[in-house]
Amino acid sequence: MEAYIAALDQGTTSSRAILFNRAGEIVARAQHPFRQIYPQPGWVEHDPMEIWSTTARALAEAVDSAHIDPKCIAALGITNQRETTILWDRTTGEPVCNAIVWQCRRTAAICDQLKADGWIEAVQEKTGLLIDAYFSGTKLKWLLDNIPGARKRAEQGELCCGTVDSWLIWNLTRGAAHVTDCSNASRTMLFNIHTLQWDQELCGMLGIPLALLPQPRANSEVYGTIASGISGLEDLAGIPICGSAGDQAAALFGQGCFVPGQAKNTYGTGCFTLMNVGTSAVRSRSGLVTSVGWQLNGETTYALEGSVFNAGSAIQWLRDELGLFETSPECDRLAESVPSAGGVYVVPAFTGLGAPYWDMYARGTIVGITRGTTKAHIARAVLDAIAFQVADLVRAMNADAPCPITTLRVDGGASVSDILMQTQADLLRLPVDRPTQVETTAFGAAALAGLAVGVWENLQEVGQLRRSQHVFMPQRAEAECAADYSHWQRAVNRARAWIE
Ligand code: G3P
Repeated sequence: MEAYIAALDQGTTSSRAILFNRAGEIVARAQHPFRQIYPQPGWVEHDPMEIWSTTARALAEAVDSAHIDPKCIAALGITNQRETTILWDRTTGEPVCNAIVWQCRRTAAICDQLKADGWIEAVQEKTGLLIDAYFSGTKLKWLLDNIPGARKRAEQGELCCGTVDSWLIWNLTRGAAHVTDCSNASRTMLFNIHTLQWDQELCGMLGIPLALLPQPRANSEVYGTIASGISGLEDLAGIPICGSAGDQAAALFGQGCFVPGQAKNTYGTGCFTLMNVGTSAVRSRSGLVTSVGWQLNGETTYALEGSVFNAGSAIQWLRDELGLFETSPECDRLAESVPSAGGVYVVPAFTGLGAPYWDMYARGTIVGITRGTTKAHIARAVLDAIAFQVADLVRAMNADAPCPITTLRVDGGASVSDILMQTQADLLRLPVDRPTQVETTAFGAAALAGLAVGVWENLQEVGQLRRSQHVFMPQRAEAECAADYSHWQRAVNRARAWIE
């Protein structure tokens, strides 16, 4: 009997379910977008019930459209937008309020205070992170301090908190499992990446009761099974939920980056470059962070990561807010209609700047506009900005890592853009390797789940499923690219420290 593996990919703008076969091929998929809530400038929220309902609906639809016997689904893996923080009632499962999304900047002042209080060194040493509003810890503190009654209820053990993986597993098991995996836990600023436990001192720093937190678990093991009686998922009851990883760790895994030094970039809402650095945590001196990639068979693999907050979201902004085109692929055609951005640089710092700048007060900037600038130049400048931001990350990574990156594996929505990938190869002076299967995030979650129940025996089997579709080689003159990159850095400086 053919075995299938289901993966849930709960992203920032949509919830998706994908069904894979043993060859790693997609058999079926379904996707539902959900609302982005912007209560104030710089604030971003999601409704946790929408996260759950769109995910459950996508799973039901994907299975339905595959026309398979649900009993052939051997495992369910989960991958998710990381850092986004949810607080819910342990008894009723009702969310206490909206989720604070990873992009939300509302806790910038809390972070400033932590830095002023001298926590920078302890946070980096224990968690591998820098103090920034991006990570979950200060978001959770904000919820406990600002939602009426939340802190008291948390102290009385009435509430649960978690990132999106925890929330989904809680709902899929109908409250039987309150767990998280090490990759998601290591994005909270509360998790000690060396001991793989919640850190009491850091929880104390933010006033987080330990009882609120999910149990940290390995990335490939059975956390529970899909409960019976979930509307729309009745036929899936009993399927083991046995793989989980934050989306960037899942993509690193799905790209088969199992050897230290291998690296990937995912072009999603943001851009995330991760390098496998092996079984010891490498400490960054260049503005990157260190997280657990995965814990598997008792061994921990660490990843060095550079995160850029706005990449694909900048293309969406051109489409939705500026109305420059109706569908994202049209952005490529528009950008290709001009030979270059004509001296225009867009810095999409809509929610501040992530690595390697870490400026919570930067904001979006366009420089170099002349009377002859057209929407095609702006579109091209946005694609360039995505590639420039990844170049910033790769430069920082090469400064920190024991050996430089020799090839960049790519995936995610915008990696289908040939013009963007060529620009990327030109700027990096490196081969940019796009696989046939760009759904590597979901595949990574499926692989972790499949390994737990023996669908695949080992990493070699999983790694062999990856095939290159195209390798982009540098073409443009190096000196031109270098000049362009220095203009980008000037533009970034204009965007920095814009608001107080
Ligand atoms: O750290 C945030 C990241 O996990 C979100 O990823 O794919 O939803 O942009 P994505």
